[in-house]
Amino acid sequence: MADSDHKPGDARARGETIARILASDAQLAPAPLTTEAYRFLGDTDLPASRYTCQAFFQQELSKMWSRCWQWACREEHLPEVGDHYVYDIGPYSVIVTRVANDEIKAFINSCTHRGTRLLGEEGVGHGQGFNCPFHGWSWHLNGVLKDVPGRWDFPHVCEASHSLQPVACESWQGFVFINLDPDASPLHEQLDVLPDHFAHFPLDQRRIRLHVQKVLPANWKAAQEAFMEAYHNFTTHDSPTGGNAQYDIFGPHASRFIHTIGHYSPESLADYPGDKWRAPPLTEQELLAGIPVTQRPWQTVRPPARQALNCYARRWAASWGSIFRRCRTAKCSTRSNITSFPTRFSFPAVLISMAYRFRPLGDDVDSCLFEILMLEPLAEGAKHPDPPEPVLLGVDQSYTEIEELAWLGAVYDQDTSNLQLQQQGLKTTRKGVTLGNYQEARIRRFHLTLDNYLAGADCE
Ligand code: FES
Ligand SMILES: [Fe+2]
Repeated sequence: MADSDHKPGDARARGETIARILASDAQLAPAPLTTEAYRFLGDTDLPASRYTCQAFFQQELSKMWSRCWQWACREEHLPEVGDHYVYDIGPYSVIVTRVANDEIKAFINSCTHRGTRLLGEEGVGHGQGFNCPFHGWSWHLNGVLKDVPGRWDFPHVCEASHSLQPVACESWQGFVFINLDPDASPLHEQLDVLPDHFAHFPLDQRRIRLHVQKVLPANWKAAQEAFMEAYHNFTTHDSPTGGNAQYDIFGPHASRFIHTIGHYSPESLADYPGDKWRAPPLTEQELLAGIPVTQRPWQTVRPPARQALNCYARRWAASWGSIFRRCRTAKCSTRSNITSFPTRFSFPAVLISMAYRFRPLGDDVDSCLFEILMLEPLAEGAKHPDPPEPVLLGVDQSYTEIEELAWLGAVYDQDTSNLQLQQQGLKTTRKGVTLGNYQEARIRRFHLTLDNYLAGADCE
């Protein structure tokens, strides 16, 4: 069929589809991987001002960030009663604290007397209650007003009126979410398909092995959109992977792409002439020896990669416990990333399981904080160890300075290398942002959902 015969959004890269590749596996791929959920969502340009305009940014803060569920920390940050985590988003600040062995609560990080911020820097801390440094008001761990110095002057103050302001708080798979909206819908509505997709990847049975934070010189949306498509792989990563990636839009808050290790689209190979990507397949031993730290899997893994990776998963199962025994070939040989609006990326994968978060820094429209959590399986029955301190990289530092990132360090450098130029270009362009109908559909869905929040509409 000629391209002109396609309806918008129907065209695909040449070659095998992900669905056909998975169907050719000896083992049946699990349902979340075989689901396809693409819809054409329009092809008009997005105004560049969405990434650069301070007024638009303020609208996001007051109408979106104040109303949606967002991951604040991991439960492993709060192992003991009295542990707390301060989470900042734009101008808002929230205290998340463990008030009982089985209960976590969240409060606005502000004194109910004259508004002073109660706890300082973002991150972990511990205490059996909260005290204001200004006039000494105090609260119990559960947020109930405890003491008001000079009580005689405040007959109009009581527990009901001046306890800490509660914030909606729920946990899912070890992640603690907060929602600043006093009328927030339950978290599961926003999680959409995630519980199904992670049914066999219980992230609460993982620990943070590495936490990296880096300030990126770009609007928070532009930064995360660089991770929503594999279209950039050819140029940014000099890699032929992702040419035949599958893109799925599950709902207003959830989307993903999948590509496979070991299958390249002919589209990609046409763009990469010569033998660079056509070397003989590695042996299973070479694959096992090389994955995951010493080589870049997408450059080296070819059929019979799936078989080899399955062996790898079995080897992990032996050392890490039962969660990997349920992994099938398809899960081991595909790479997918799934986003939940507005800011969370996760990867249901055996080889690499990360969580990403992109959020604004203060009220700066031109920068954001990008965080990477490397999640490692806990040995069966093991307790979570203390999470590592975040490693903070400056704007000009390279991810390769972090040894534990191994080959991924160079990849993150590549992924973030275009952002400053893009942010600068968005400020001078006279046209809008143009999106591919299929490969960049997740970005379009993201902006439609953002528009729903800005309009104050239900996000359906
Ligand atoms: S502002 Fe907090 S006690 Fe006065
Ligand atoms: Fe990338």
